[in-house]
Amino acid sequence: MTKPDVRPTDLPSWKVLEAHAAQMKSRHLKELFAADDQRFDKFSLQLSPFLFDYSKNLITDETKAALLALAQESGVESWRTKMFAAEHINATEDRAVMHVALRDKSANPILIDGADARPAVNAELERMRKLSEKLRSGVWVGYTGKTITDIVSIGIGGSNLGPLMVCEALKAYSDKRFNMHFVSNIDGVQIAEVLEGLNPETTLFVISSKTFTTQETMTNARTAEQWFMAAAGDKAAIAKHFVAVSTNRKLVTAFGIAEENIFDMWDWVGGRFSLWSAIGLPIVLSLGFELFDELLQGAYEMDQHFQTAPLAENAPVMLALVGIWNRNFLGYPAHALLPYDQCLHRFPAYMQQAEMESNGKSVNWAGEQITYGSVPLVWGEVGINGQHAFYQMLHQGTDIIPADFIGSIAPTVAVEGHHDALMANFFAQTQALMLGIDADQVRRELSAKGVSAERIEEIVEHKVHRGNRPSNTLLLNKVDARSLGALIALYEHKIFVQGIIWRIHSFDQWGVELGKVLAAGIQPELDTNKATNAAHDASTRNLIDYYKRAKSA
Ligand code: F6P
Repeated sequence: MTKPDVRPTDLPSWKVLEAHAAQMKSRHLKELFAADDQRFDKFSLQLSPFLFDYSKNLITDETKAALLALAQESGVESWRTKMFAAEHINATEDRAVMHVALRDKSANPILIDGADARPAVNAELERMRKLSEKLRSGVWVGYTGKTITDIVSIGIGGSNLGPLMVCEALKAYSDKRFNMHFVSNIDGVQIAEVLEGLNPETTLFVISSKTFTTQETMTNARTAEQWFMAAAGDKAAIAKHFVAVSTNRKLVTAFGIAEENIFDMWDWVGGRFSLWSAIGLPIVLSLGFELFDELLQGAYEMDQHFQTAPLAENAPVMLALVGIWNRNFLGYPAHALLPYDQCLHRFPAYMQQAEMESNGKSVNWAGEQITYGSVPLVWGEVGINGQHAFYQMLHQGTDIIPADFIGSIAPTVAVEGHHDALMANFFAQTQALMLGIDADQVRRELSAKGVSAERIEEIVEHKVHRGNRPSNTLLLNKVDARSLGALIALYEHKIFVQGIIWRIHSFDQWGVELGKVLAAGIQPELDTNKATNAAHDASTRNLIDYYKRAKSA
């Protein structure tokens, strides 16, 4: 696409929302709840894996209607059809965006670029299942005949964060057959620490890289191979200890990995959306194929909901629209993801890549500079730990940071006395952010405690919480494979909807390229026998020289 068919800021609904926001900025959530006792029913959605409550956002019926009009005027529905029909909506890379095909449980053909992708998708799933079973049953053994005990996944970005996040989230359901290790950093400390405790005879490496050119992954893969070969000696042993997931069979083979140990993926799967493909192999190995299949099932159910539910009852659409309202009309610069389940501790990092690598762009489809905000800063941490760290800023800081609170009705592991205590905090925090506490209430509370009037006046303003800080609540029945699949797909579709409204390309990532190219140029200069490039800016040149002088001193 060379010309945007529409600029969001020119749409009638955008203008309505701008005018409406100017009024809403003087309202308080407390007052909106007091004025409308139907608010929760109107602004929440009950889906089978979770309840989604977005009523604690500064919205009214009018806001919702205008946001839905924005979705309609932006053509969200027709773009959704294009994505599921495998049109090349990833225009800058001229590719379809079909991670949804990887979890499509219907029997229909999946036509991508004129061919049915289903046989290939199913074949890879079957190969993943077989590998997992061979390893579990002890049919697949290492080069000295010992069973595999440790699996080291080497990959970065989308080839690391998804499998790592899911393995951690569902660890409680794993048969703990294998010790799982994940290496992503090119900082040697990570792979050194992992390898230190391992036995080459019982270790399997999974090298995951869509391109098989990523420097961090290739460097770690070579280190792993050297470590392995130092013990095994014989190249033939590699076939029992290295498997790879990639679109680039040629480079994988050149690396020395046996053809039969290569798992395929396709260029129509973006890295940050790839955990559903063979990139999910560490998940299959850790949890068993059945749980991986449940994960796919949960995502498929969310895909169906996204495709069929009316926009007003469509969870990904409403999550996206509320996000657009907070970002573009109320002007909030960031968005926090705050899971209360400990098992979701890598979820914020995973979603940070998905959201920020997808929608962290500043030109529209026509390459014009956009005049409105795209993705906010997405960040987060396990909520309960955050309460004792950064929540101070969420409650009383100068910026308002909307947040998604994610919790569960049933704990993953029940330990007497813990879950209700956790969930009391979960409910209390969104309430505190919304309601706050005003000066009069602070005075009353301090006075009831016997604090002197003079002392009260000294501290009252410091204790005021102005509230009116929005949040979404996602209350899962339980974190299990199916609900996790649905949760991930919910956010994937949110990202898609926002990208359509912002008219930006969500499925490329050119912004990560420049740094890679410059690093490739700088690395040889770090050799102390080589001259530093005089053309560098003075800061970079001096930093490099300082580093070289210091390391050779
Ligand atoms: O640098 C960004 C990126 O391209 C991500 O999009 C991707 O998930 C990651 O690097 C890893 O890429 P690959 O799977 O090709 O090694």
